[in-house]
Amino acid sequence: MPSLIIVGALWGDEAKGKLVDVLSEEADYNVRYSGGNNAGHTVQADGESFKFHLIPSGILHPNITAVLSAGMVICPKALLDELETTLAKRPRIGRLLISGSAHVVFPYHRQLDALEEAERGENKIGTTSRGIGPAYQDKVARSGIRMWDFIHEERLRERLKSSLAAKNVRLKEPIGFDALFEEYRGYADRLREFVGEAEWEVAEAVRSGKRVLMEGAQGALLDLDIGTYPYVTSSHPTAAGACLGTGLTPRAVDNVLGVCVAYTTRVGSGPFPTELCGDLAERIRSVGNEFGVSTGRPRRIGWLDLTALKFSCRMNGFTSLAVTRLDVLSGLSQIAVGVGYEIEGRRSDQFPTDLWKLEHAEPVLEYLPGWDADLTKLSSRSSLPKQAEALLSKIEAFTETPISIVSIGPDREQTMIERKDLLWRD
Ligand code: IMP
Repeated sequence: MPSLIIVGALWGDEAKGKLVDVLSEEADYNVRYSGGNNAGHTVQADGESFKFHLIPSGILHPNITAVLSAGMVICPKALLDELETTLAKRPRIGRLLISGSAHVVFPYHRQLDALEEAERGENKIGTTSRGIGPAYQDKVARSGIRMWDFIHEERLRERLKSSLAAKNVRLKEPIGFDALFEEYRGYADRLREFVGEAEWEVAEAVRSGKRVLMEGAQGALLDLDIGTYPYVTSSHPTAAGACLGTGLTPRAVDNVLGVCVAYTTRVGSGPFPTELCGDLAERIRSVGNEFGVSTGRPRRIGWLDLTALKFSCRMNGFTSLAVTRLDVLSGLSQIAVGVGYEIEGRRSDQFPTDLWKLEHAEPVLEYLPGWDADLTKLSSRSSLPKQAEALLSKIEAFTETPISIVSIGPDREQTMIERKDLLWRD
């Protein structure tokens, strides 16, 4: 039963989408297990650019069943737009399956997201304003509307009426029921054919030896439980979240691939000890095109924080790492990595989960020599300049985790798959 989970190792935007696309070539199922359209993946395939927010990017392969699992919160309008845009460019795509247990995001969730951010004042989380937090709040409060109810006209009418009445009390611009119901009933009509028993189907796929590729959204340090709370998302991007969101037993998981950039990025607020500012950050941001796919926000840039990465390796049990955007660092005379922190004058080798400590952590940096060569046309790790190889070896030694993939550009072809044996168990 070959199954592989792909996890963003730090704060998201690690270029998982491209790797999912590449690895889907050999998969039967591509399952998204958490989050909603707060995520954004860009995939370059056969000279065209695709942006995915909800649909697993593996759908570009016609052999794939792309699953939106129970752990997700889904904006129906965004999903239909994405499906249409994808079909316009690529008429033959994989099969879409939406879990009936996934929750639906409504316009009142988006309004509440903005309202809650405004109420936080100085302590804004910097959400993507897609209504993700409020939709998960409804789920936990057991008042959310699931896909099963959404596609059933009478159940939708009844549940939407009561949910909206409760929300309108708080909204600055109350939403009228009739227009909302009509609009969403229309979306339900178009999505009904895709909704089904996804949990059972994925479990059966694993049991019968199909290749199942699971992808979270965001990154492990944005996980509600083990991330940098409260500057986190409202779901579980960690490997454990794959089991929660799909219903699969941990016993069904073979390998877990952690994806990290050769430096670190973060969007939204929250501590980021190795953060850079000034010209160097600007340079990396513009060479790496570090702007959010969902919101267009410039990403914060820093050196690769190996202490945070090691923590993530432990929390997720990565069987291997993929290092992306190594090419972006070409041309720098030296490159640093974070190898610990100074917190209140004391050296610490461990990533603190006490947010106050992380906010007061000064990074301990180690400098490595840079390289000039353009990496984007190289085809294997052995052809990298020795300084780039030294950076990869440092990552492996520090985190005690082998690197299976090195990515040196946005195209499918710019992917060095070095250790296939660490990806799929056959
Ligand atoms: P939310 O998920 O929109 O509620 O935002 C919560 C936090 O997660 C904010 O700091 C967002 O910037 C961050 N976040 C959400 N989605 C992504 C993503 O796909 N990449 C990186 N950060 C994200």
